[in-house]
Amino acid sequence: MTPDLFEKGAERLELHKAKLSTDVTSGDRGASYGRIHTSGELDTTHGRILYLEDVNVSFDGFKAINHLSLDIAPGELRCIIGPNGAGKTTMMDIITGKTKPDSGQVFFGSTIDLLRHNEPEIAQLGIGRKFQKPTVFEHLSVFENLELALKTHKGVAASMFFKLDGVQSDRLREVLETIHLTQDMRRQAGNLSHGQKQWLEIGMLLMQDPKLLLLDEPVAGMTDFETERTAELFLSLKGKHSLMVVEHDMSFINTISDIVTVLCDGSVLAQGTLAQVQADERVIEVYLGR
Ligand SMILES: Nc1ncnc2c1ncn2[C@@H]1O[C@H](COP(=O)(O)OP(=O)(O)OP(=O)(O)O)[C@@H](O)[C@H]1O
Ligand SMILES: [Mg+2]
Repeated sequence: MTPDLFEKGAERLELHKAKLSTDVTSGDRGASYGRIHTSGELDTTHGRILYLEDVNVSFDGFKAINHLSLDIAPGELRCIIGPNGAGKTTMMDIITGKTKPDSGQVFFGSTIDLLRHNEPEIAQLGIGRKFQKPTVFEHLSVFENLELALKTHKGVAASMFFKLDGVQSDRLREVLETIHLTQDMRRQAGNLSHGQKQWLEIGMLLMQDPKLLLLDEPVAGMTDFETERTAELFLSLKGKHSLMVVEHDMSFINTISDIVTVLCDGSVLAQGTLAQVQADERVIEVYLGR
């Protein structure tokens, strides 16, 4: 790691600590600072919201993830790049409980061992995932999709008697603004453009107020205008949520990135600013092909 990355990391940690010292109220997550933690409670006081160490996964003898170690700070927007087959999606599968690694550690904060949880539990813990293809309910309106996202998160039993309360209505309107769909809230989701559907799906994740959002190729198939809007959206989410964004679109990465991690053959090949990793001989080699 280069010295300025250390500086950035230290800055992030300081910012996080400053936030904790202002946010501390009884029972709040920030109130956990300095206390002994019980497992199950998100503890980011060590400056990491996600932590992978020496993770390995093989599929029929093929090592898709190979001694992968990586961590992300609270509020960080981390970009992940790498050639096809590098293991980016598989890494997200591991974090979200879809794939169990053969060995290694995966922690959410410093106390929640994600390998002890299944997919629905991990979603409930506050990790939201956006797959490449939008999966909105086409026959429902934008508003109804967002409302449903909240219901689903509350569980089936609660959803039978579900009615938005004031706080939830405010949240829904706030999310509509964030994803630029306030004007379109009564439209049927099936009639939205591809980019708008992607935003709606991100909005559905936001309704569940995730602490960490994983986004796999979010701007694939978007127009230039939609891509720019998405960059603005992600920058506005940074700080409020932690984000891990996998993308091949380098101009998009250039707009949104602080630290970029390059994955190759299932492990971290390089890490730094986009300019730094793009100047790295090993990165140039894997992108140009061996
Ligand atoms: N369930 C699986 N069974 C067998 N092989 C798999 C499975 N999932 C992934 N792989 C293999 O693991 C490797 C990593 O795949 P992965 O989808 O994680 O790459 P990626 O970095 O997301 O690539 P892309 O940029 O093309 O999306 C690939 O060689 C892929 O074929
Ligand atoms: Mg992939």
